[in-house]
Amino acid sequence: MRNAHAEHDKKYVLHPYTNLSAHQELDPFIITHGEGIYVWDDQGNKLIEGMSGLWCASLGFNEQRLVDAATKQMQKLPFSHLFSHRSTEPAIELSQKLIEIAPDNMAKVFLVNSGSEAVDMAIKIVWYYNNALDRPKKKKIISRKRAYHGITIASGSLTGLPYVHDGFDLPAIPVMHTETPHFYREGQTGETEDQFTDRLAQTLEEQIIAEDPDTIAAFIAEPVMGAGGVLIPPAGYFQKIQTVLDKHDILLICDEVICGFARTGEMFGSQTFNAKPDLMTIAKQLSSAYQPIGGVMISEKVYEAMVKGSDRHGMFGSGNTYGGHPVAAAVAIETLNIYKERNITDHVKSLSVLFQQRLDALAEHPLVGQARGVGLIGALEIVKDKETKEQYPLSDKVAAQIANYARAHNLILRPTPGDSVALCPPLIINDKELNIMFDRVELALNDMSAALA
Ligand SMILES: Cc1ncc(COP(=O)(O)O)c(C=O)c1O
Repeated sequence: MRNAHAEHDKKYVLHPYTNLSAHQELDPFIITHGEGIYVWDDQGNKLIEGMSGLWCASLGFNEQRLVDAATKQMQKLPFSHLFSHRSTEPAIELSQKLIEIAPDNMAKVFLVNSGSEAVDMAIKIVWYYNNALDRPKKKKIISRKRAYHGITIASGSLTGLPYVHDGFDLPAIPVMHTETPHFYREGQTGETEDQFTDRLAQTLEEQIIAEDPDTIAAFIAEPVMGAGGVLIPPAGYFQKIQTVLDKHDILLICDEVICGFARTGEMFGSQTFNAKPDLMTIAKQLSSAYQPIGGVMISEKVYEAMVKGSDRHGMFGSGNTYGGHPVAAAVAIETLNIYKERNITDHVKSLSVLFQQRLDALAEHPLVGQARGVGLIGALEIVKDKETKEQYPLSDKVAAQIANYARAHNLILRPTPGDSVALCPPLIINDKELNIMFDRVELALNDMSAALA
């Protein structure tokens, strides 16, 4: 055992998304500090954080303005809440700023502490909405296979990844999972992208009709499916899906927890992919992850029904102690100020040209079946045979091995389901750093090829 922290980690810390018995055998990877796009581990290694932590630390790891915003707010008012008509200046200012940058139909913001809470709250709002409209049967939610929406009882039910359900008796709310818009893997022989999205829309409609449209409340979708493997919908997908939803009076929730705040090149992923949500969930880059904060943005139509519900029940009976926490809100306000001053969407758009070029070039690598990306998010799908798209046995964990090789080259990558490796660097990355990052990805792929040879 290399030091007391590592020993105490094994002794006391129960780790999320970790194989608990393997953790007893391995040394924990302890991060001690950060600067720009880099983090240091407790062995003194300086690594590029190619995943922005968990798709979240958009402004890197030492943005002094966010530290100052938190300090100032802590000194002024470290806590107050939003229950029973009370409010705080940071929560008001943040909500106003969010509605100003959101798509035009967004009217109100409900602040929470995480992405999972935002998704949970969105579902509660949808249920409350349909009860207020006297449609008590309209409650089921449609999600997608390979979706990631969080881990609470409701958001975990919506997540479409087996390891989030197994052992937890999930799904535990009424949910159906429809097809994944991953043309590379799910497209049929001879099918064009257009035919593929037609088929997905048709399958969705058949599922809705089979279930009874009067029982279906909402469809939830990440604009780009992140944790499921960075799956980018083909052009026209959301418009076709939305036509089906509109026909059956089903709300669209866009889960912007990863895509929100310029990751895809527009302020929100739904704008990049031309989706028109009724509700949007946000978190992560909202505060550049410097404080835990999330939110649900809702349209005027949804809000009006909620007012009716609140009149009926005497109040909108839901809230978290820390929802809209003044320190988190102050940090989020400063994050949004920085995005505006640095014209973050233009920055991402211009840098994404190099990002996509370097990503595309890796499609030539013998191990890469597909290189896909948008804005500053991307993934490489690993295959054994480029022609047939055959994968290595998933038990070989090739993507995870590549992430380990990357770490030996001082780069943090993430293996995702479907044997892909994801890349999602801090938005502040520059050209030079991007090139270094991709050089290291290439080294890791070459190491993997050599090991497989
Ligand atoms: C799209 C999406 N929704 C929700 C969540 C859950 O967020 P949190 O981990 O903050 O609960 C995540 C987390 O990665 C996510 O990617």
